Amino acid sequence: MTPFGLRNKLKSILGRSGQTERVDERVPLTFTTPDGTVTEVQSELRYTLVMASQTLEKPIATGCPDGHCGHCIVDVLDATGLGEPSPAEAKLLAEKTEKSIRLACHARVVGPGAKIKVREVWSMDSVRGE
Ligand code: FES
Repeated sequence: MTPFGLRNKLKSILGRSGQTERVDERVPLTFTTPDGTVTEVQSELRYTLVMASQTLEKPIATGCPDGHCGHCIVDVLDATGLGEPSPAEAKLLAEKTEKSIRLACHARVVGPGAKIKVREVWSMDSVRGE
């Protein structure tokens, strides 16, 4: 269990979560990486797409800790199972002309079935900004 899962489990035991769904429930979603590889992963509910991609050989690239860089933008092929954009994500996406995109560091898994096309996978170069 991840630190997030452990925290949520403790909250639910202590009655502070306010959540009705099982926090450790896993749901399937599909990532298509830039090389065309299609991989189905099992993600815990409420994980971001970045967190869910950690089981991929090369996870989604990120570039900032607070959701302002747009480096993690992914194309959404099927939005089934994704939560609504947060106000911060909606603000950043409103500046883009493309539709059907999400910030993978903000978009949360709320159910099964999302299909995501990854634009950039993590590498040391993406961390250095090269
Ligand atoms: S990693 Fe910077 S906006 Fe998502």
